[in-house]
Amino acid sequence: MDAIVEDLAEFNYHDRSLLASIFADTPEEMAYVAGRLEPFADAAELNFSCRHSPGHGATHGSQAHTPTSIGEFTRAVKSRFGKPVIPKFSPNDSNEELKAKIRAAIDAGADGISLINTMGPEVFEIDGHPALTSDVGGSLSGDGIRERGFECTKIAREEVGPDVPLIVTGGLSTAEHIRKSRALGATLNGIGTALAGMSTSILAKYFTALDFDLENGTNTAEQYLVFNRSGHKKFRVKENYKYTDDLSMLVLDDGFEIEPGQFVFTWLPKDMYREGDGEKPYSLYDNDPATLVVQRRGKLSNVLANLRPGEELYLRGPCGNPVDLDIEKAILVGGGTGIASLRSIARALDERGVPTTSFLGAVDRDHISFAEESYNSGDVRFATNDGSFGRHGNITAYLLDKIGTLNLEHGVFFNCGPSQMIRSAEIFEGRYVGSESMFSSEEQETSCGYGLCARCAREDGLRSCVDGYFMNPIC
Ligand SMILES: Cc1cc2nc3c(=O)[nH]c(=O)nc-3n(C[C@H](O)[C@H](O)[C@H](O)COP(=O)(O)OP(=O)(O)OC[C@H]3O[C@@H](n4cnc5c(N)ncnc54)[C@H](O)[C@@H]3O)c2cc1C
Ligand SMILES: Cc1cc2nc3c(=O)[nH]c(=O)nc-3n(C[C@H](O)[C@H](O)[C@H](O)COP(=O)(O)O)c2cc1C
Repeated sequence: MDAIVEDLAEFNYHDRSLLASIFADTPEEMAYVAGRLEPFADAAELNFSCRHSPGHGATHGSQAHTPTSIGEFTRAVKSRFGKPVIPKFSPNDSNEELKAKIRAAIDAGADGISLINTMGPEVFEIDGHPALTSDVGGSLSGDGIRERGFECTKIAREEVGPDVPLIVTGGLSTAEHIRKSRALGATLNGIGTALAGMSTSILAKYFTALDFDLENGTNTAEQYLVFNRSGHKKFRVKENYKYTDDLSMLVLDDGFEIEPGQFVFTWLPKDMYREGDGEKPYSLYDNDPATLVVQRRGKLSNVLANLRPGEELYLRGPCGNPVDLDIEKAILVGGGTGIASLRSIARALDERGVPTTSFLGAVDRDHISFAEESYNSGDVRFATNDGSFGRHGNITAYLLDKIGTLNLEHGVFFNCGPSQMIRSAEIFEGRYVGSESMFSSEEQETSCGYGLCARCAREDGLRSCVDGYFMNPIC
């Protein structure tokens, strides 16, 4: 709580409204949290509907909220929070249960009603494999819950009468949906899943268009919906070349359509790979056949790097944005498995006749021999930390040494590798070009690939999975 309050005190959001979503074990705890948030929030949303908060009174089944508990929690928050209090409800309840809970909230002093949360839980399958790593299943949002959202809106409006505000979320993505929701009784609307896959600039266009649509009766925002429904594609490993104990190249049995600069998620289903199941982002060293370079680091990569010919895996994507190949010359700087994503960029530029110089580094020859064999576009310079191949030392020292001799007029830099390498490269490059001519990609934590979880968000708010993953440095 202290950390959240500290963040809010620093966060400059004062041209916007802040609806603080709260869940808690007891009425007293919820009231305490609401009280701490009062100086910052414009309203409190009481989450009585999330099934992913076991032990906090928000789940269904034995821990489900009842009209009585909803009344108690709402009253407690009202006693400590002097701004609007808005309980949020689940579509999982029967219509009668939903009405009883809404009535209990209103009788306890709720100032508005919010609905709907996600539907479920359900166990989702992809190609016959459980889609989620968690055992509790997942919940449904987006298109599949829209009709239930409309139904709950109608029920809620009938229950609360004409004057109580209703905030309605649930599968809404276009102005047409919002108009229907408002006709059924919504006062305000929320949009969640429809934003999947939108870059920050598309997001701005989408909301501008939505405002326009709502004022003019049009439906133009629909054009910005970009959710990638291409799904997972199954592959078998054709070859696993082990360059060292911890570095493998996996050649798969088919191609994957992807543009230079994009990446994929590699999925090992949990019913097939009990030790290292899950999904992580990877670059494709080649797209036909799809080829991955895997450095063993932990749970998933340990299993991935040891897959044998014939074993199955899935790729999801492509994710991220293609890099702009319409340039005059490029300098590519890669370290470790970061080299994997640069090769397709160098090759595509080479095919267009754009001159490239690549600086590629690794700890030793074993860790770069995959590139020694097949990274052959343009002028390629290698360095290893132990001097076993190419220049002795790290790759940024090599870059620093040579950068002054390169003709950098109209040159564009692409950096990919560990954070420390990227930071050094950007400092050296920044002495010669502006940040608009530098594009960097870090192999950082990325979870959903749709821009929804924000795990890959940078300090400036850009999310590498939808805004990158090659991005200009933060100035
Ligand atoms: C866009 C993108 C492209 C990527 N491309 C590749 C690729 O081509 N080849 C490849 O091998 N990996 C790549 N990665 C990294 C990959 O997604 C995983 O993070 C990595 O394989 C480790 O997963 P794990 O489950 O084995 O490790 P975990 O079990 O999650 O972590 C084990 C340990 O390794 C550390 N760790 C995890 N990831 C990294 C990392 N990226 N760098 C340094 N330490 C880390 C963790 O902090 C932890 O200490 C890429 C990442 C991104 C975001
Ligand atoms: C990734 C994700 C995270 C969510 N997190 C929360 C949450 O923390 N609290 C909450 O009340 N609802 C949460 N929801 C539910 C949404 O707020 C919303 O009620 C629901 O997804 C229906 O709207 P949509 O179809 O527009 O996504 C989440 C939904 C998604 C997809």
